[in-house]
Amino acid sequence: MATEILWRPPGKMTQSEQRSLESLVEEVSDEFVPPLTTRSSTTQAVLASASGSTSSSYFHELLTQHCLLLIECDQLQGFLSFRTFHRDTRLPQIGICIYVSIISVRPAARGRGLARLLYQKLLRLPETLPAWILLRTRSTNTHHLHLLDTLGFKRLLTVPNDRDRVDGIYLGCKR
Ligand SMILES: CC(C)(COP(=O)(O)OP(=O)(O)OC[C@H]1O[C@@H](n2cnc3c(N)ncnc32)[C@H](O)[C@@H]1OP(=O)(O)O)[C@@H](O)C(=O)NCCC(=O)NCCS
Repeated sequence: MATEILWRPPGKMTQSEQRSLESLVEEVSDEFVPPLTTRSSTTQAVLASASGSTSSSYFHELLTQHCLLLIECDQLQGFLSFRTFHRDTRLPQIGICIYVSIISVRPAARGRGLARLLYQKLLRLPETLPAWILLRTRSTNTHHLHLLDTLGFKRLLTVPNDRDRVDGIYLGCKR
């Protein structure tokens, strides 16, 4: 099957790619806490009170980030959004880094190594971008944690009861 991963810097996604991405975000929204379509931003540190926000405000903020689009046979099957030149004051040791705000693969396409391909592409981005990659995931997301472990990510920080009484785990990897 023909698979390609397109890197779209902010503002560079075509209208058709934007429509496919919005449709995929809506499809997977409820798997996140809180659901993506109720978030007002990709950077909410405290996500408990997102009432009043709309899916479009979250989606428009997503478009201000870099995005890797995984396409199989002309169909968007997964994406990974990231910010460049991010800094987390709780993790001064890693300095400026790439921050992965979200990764998701279409439910029907999971378990075939597509998320691994997205991370591998991220790890091979040009050296002009920061060397460190940082992300946060829930302690209950065992598939994601297993994948990150095999890719060489290390656990850097655990935030107890981060969201919905589930611990948040920050992991990092130096490219
Ligand atoms: C987490 C997610 C991105 C993984 O996508 P994926 O394309 O299915 O992942 P991969 O196929 O690359 O698999 C990665 C590893 O997890 C394992 N895995 C994935 N799905 C699995 C499942 N349902 N059962 C058991 N293991 C599974 C795979 O075996 C693989 O490990 P291996 O290579 O050692 O065999 C996907 O499940 C998803 O979109 N989940 C919802 C969103 C989410 O949780 N995102 C992360 C937080 S931002």
